[in-house]
Amino acid sequence: RHVTWSPEMASKEGYSHFMLKEIHEQPMALRNTLAGIERDEVTKIGAELADARHIFITASGTSLHAGLIGDYLLTTVAGADVHTFTSSEYRKYMKTAGEGDVAIVVSQSGETIDALLALRALKSAGVKVIAISNVMDSAIPRESHLAIYTRTGPEIGVAATKTFTAQLMVLTILAMSAAAARGYVNDDEAAYFMNEMEQVPDVVQATLANNEAKIKRVAASISRASSMYYLGRGLGLPISMEGALKMKEVAYIHAEAYPAGESKHGPIALVEKSFPVLFTIFNDEYGEAMEGNIMEMKARDAYAIGVIPKSLEERLDKVLDIAIPIGVEEPAIATIAYSVPMQLLAYYTAVARGLDPDKPRNLAKTVTVE
Ligand code: AGP
Repeated sequence: RHVTWSPEMASKEGYSHFMLKEIHEQPMALRNTLAGIERDEVTKIGAELADARHIFITASGTSLHAGLIGDYLLTTVAGADVHTFTSSEYRKYMKTAGEGDVAIVVSQSGETIDALLALRALKSAGVKVIAISNVMDSAIPRESHLAIYTRTGPEIGVAATKTFTAQLMVLTILAMSAAAARGYVNDDEAAYFMNEMEQVPDVVQATLANNEAKIKRVAASISRASSMYYLGRGLGLPISMEGALKMKEVAYIHAEAYPAGESKHGPIALVEKSFPVLFTIFNDEYGEAMEGNIMEMKARDAYAIGVIPKSLEERLDKVLDIAIPIGVEEPAIATIAYSVPMQLLAYYTAVARGLDPDKPRNLAKTVTVE
């Protein structure tokens, strides 16, 4: 008998795809990332962010969505003036950026040409540049003034998964550090926050264990859809954008994310019986408004899926078709665990449609042309 295992199969460690393996590697990837973060360095960067005139965050694709979470937290918790943009549009900021500003360039590969060109432009305008990357000594960290690494191990799947949640972890810690430097967060609150962050790998583990079977069923029912919406408010918006990007990339379903408050301004016109709408709801000030958005979609017979906090399960279970409760309540921490059902849903929908999630058509892992 011949050995039918290829080296590629062996490195998938029993998982049918790299994407699924990497989704499951997240507890470990997050533990390693947290262990690699130097507290002194974070305090120093937090102080620089707190003092910055403007903060620019630039990236592409998934890394941009992580950047938007950083933007939301730096703005709302640290009171900073933040401008976040897709790297290919950096030219817009060339008159705004200058001395006294700090930029954060987020790039898993560290080699994305758009992000590299934005970095060079910001740097030559006099901006201090901090890179967040998963690849040591790649171009972006090399050309930045300072680099922080996510330590997830190599990511093979074209769809970014574990590097996204690790980026969220780093950006959230930096935002909290900036808030502390500005005096918006006291020592006890900062200690509480770090303690919660240390629990995140276990929460992600539990999220995987408790929801995978349910998400497989949801994937089967949305696999025939040609279009769907992802709705959120606040932190729920970038998480929705990332969920929709995953769905487009691997399952080829037209998935559109937008702020839930925009529905009535146009997009709801598309909604009819069984149109899938995924709501991302945190335990924050937007809960009630989001509940209203679920009702307005249900009134059009939409198929409503909600990724929600456990504390709202009893209430929202009545209005949603499917509730996916997540066991972490602090919104700034919960973004990490909430990303997991989004990734699983895209993965299982792709598989239900007979597609190979590791090799999406038209896409390369790293985009090195403008
Ligand atoms: C993610 O699933 C995508 N494949 C893509 O959007 C990616 O995030 C983007 O190209 C940026 O890559 P980078 O993080 O390596 O710079």
